[in-house]
Amino acid sequence: MSQQHSTAPAPTPTTDAALATVDRRRDWWRDAVIYQVYPRSFADSNGDGMGDLEGIRSRLPYLRDLGVDAVWLSPFYASPQADAGYDVADYRAVDPMFGTLLDADALIRDAHELGLRIIVDLVPNHSSDQHEWFKRALAEGPGSPLRDRYHFRPGKGENGELPPNDWESIFGGPAWTRVTEPDGTPGEWYLHLFAPEQPDFNWEHPAVGDEFRSILRFWLDMGVDGFRIDVAHGMVKAEGLPDLGSHDELRLLGNDVTPFFDQDGVHDIYRQWRLILDEYSDALWPEGPSEEGRGRETGGRIFVAEAWTPTVERTANYVRPDELHQAFNFQYLGTHWDAAELREVIDRTLESMRPVGAPATWVLSNHDVTRHATRFANPPGLGTQIRLAGDRELGLRRARAATLLMLALPGSAYVYQGEELGLPDVVDLPDEVRQDPAYFRGAGQDGYRDGCRVPIPWTREGSSYGFGDGGSWLPQPEGWGELSVQAQTGVPGSTLELYRAALAVRRAHPDLGAGDAVEWLRAPEGVLAFRRGEFVCVANTTGEPVTVPAHGRVLIASGEVAVADGEARVPADTTVWWTTG
Ligand code: GLC
Repeated sequence: MSQQHSTAPAPTPTTDAALATVDRRRDWWRDAVIYQVYPRSFADSNGDGMGDLEGIRSRLPYLRDLGVDAVWLSPFYASPQADAGYDVADYRAVDPMFGTLLDADALIRDAHELGLRIIVDLVPNHSSDQHEWFKRALAEGPGSPLRDRYHFRPGKGENGELPPNDWESIFGGPAWTRVTEPDGTPGEWYLHLFAPEQPDFNWEHPAVGDEFRSILRFWLDMGVDGFRIDVAHGMVKAEGLPDLGSHDELRLLGNDVTPFFDQDGVHDIYRQWRLILDEYSDALWPEGPSEEGRGRETGGRIFVAEAWTPTVERTANYVRPDELHQAFNFQYLGTHWDAAELREVIDRTLESMRPVGAPATWVLSNHDVTRHATRFANPPGLGTQIRLAGDRELGLRRARAATLLMLALPGSAYVYQGEELGLPDVVDLPDEVRQDPAYFRGAGQDGYRDGCRVPIPWTREGSSYGFGDGGSWLPQPEGWGELSVQAQTGVPGSTLELYRAALAVRRAHPDLGAGDAVEWLRAPEGVLAFRRGEFVCVANTTGEPVTVPAHGRVLIASGEVAVADGEARVPADTTVWWTTG
């Protein structure tokens, strides 16, 4: 890769004046637990095998009872679904497969009634190739002003038969596709960092920024409480679209600044967006503190960035006080179940967020990676998209322990639908049902993302285990019903009850998620122990039981902890919370 892109500059220092604007006390999102709903796979109200907004609405009381603060919905906009909705044809319309705008309105209202906030997904790096602008850009031919809103270029080579540069798509193959012009001849090429059906916008063009500011206002007027920004690090490309000079693209992603990712120019966009969001900030929740307790004090809408950056320090750039509020901590997601590694990433995260005044975030699973119960069932070093079942019992034990550890850390945590049931990834989906676009392209990402997108089980029996009345768009595995909400509700020790209990403790003790530091305690090798006010969290990441000093009363544990004579025996791969209060 060329020299000029190979170093990651340090974050810009944040001024004291900017930090003074950070109101830690009032901000509900600083310690919020945010639940990701993947609309295709959550609940299907009309029996077409595909989840929908009405399905989600009908299950909101479940989410309230689970004890989360907010719900982030993956895209439900009008889309040909070339990348499961991350290819948007109309940013202001709901796809008929998910419902209507009226359904979205009802969902937002009902959620607010229940004290749940709604965060929607915004996809600004690229549209669908069926977006009106792109269709017209193609139809109008070379020279169409609409082509300037995307990255159209003539090809290289004698007859323009070679792509304009050497960039590759994350999903495999060149990041460029050549179009057939209206007169039937092979013509220009357009850039798509993801699937060919996802042309990248040209953010240098003022119409693109105008359009997205208007889309923000559209959803803010609908009452949403925030946006998750897809590929938030991608919108600005280096001047002149220079060659990468390497075919090691996937390795570079998230490890280095590239001419197409994590360019400093993206921050100007976020400063403008922040001003819009702040205009809306206190318009919601006008009724003041609610009975519901923690995190409900004020309005305030948020942005959370999906930004793959080389370091947590560069992630901090996205959450400076005049930019976004949170960014996913993918470094944490990628960390193995290993005490030393975990401690290092926890410390680095907290240190890097402190100077910008943003909360740390923690995440273990989402719709793009193998569920953590399966990642932890396998030996380390396989990455985050794998297709091996591993040792399921071990994976679940570690997953439960990892979740309790995550929920004891200061900041905001993300929970992906179904992880509260301890669901494993479905690793053996037949090829013919797979839909991940990367699966069908050579090289690129592994394309195993369907395994974490299988519709979740609500009941022990019945068509698609309560997901809906008409089957499910991806087949659910045998035994799914035993993991259902129904099967686990009220069962002591079930993963669902563990999540409920942990979230209830967080709610009752705002100190647990507050602040920006942990006080590490001495612990045997392979064990993490830290204090947070009156709480002590001990996580044993080893395969053997350990004996540690007891720290008061056991509040909750992911396994059976035995206490005697001031000492506690913590089983292998188990986390325990104590209170000294
Ligand atoms: C983000 C989404 C992923 C999608 C990609 C392209 O990484 O999380 O699901 O495929 O962007 O939009």
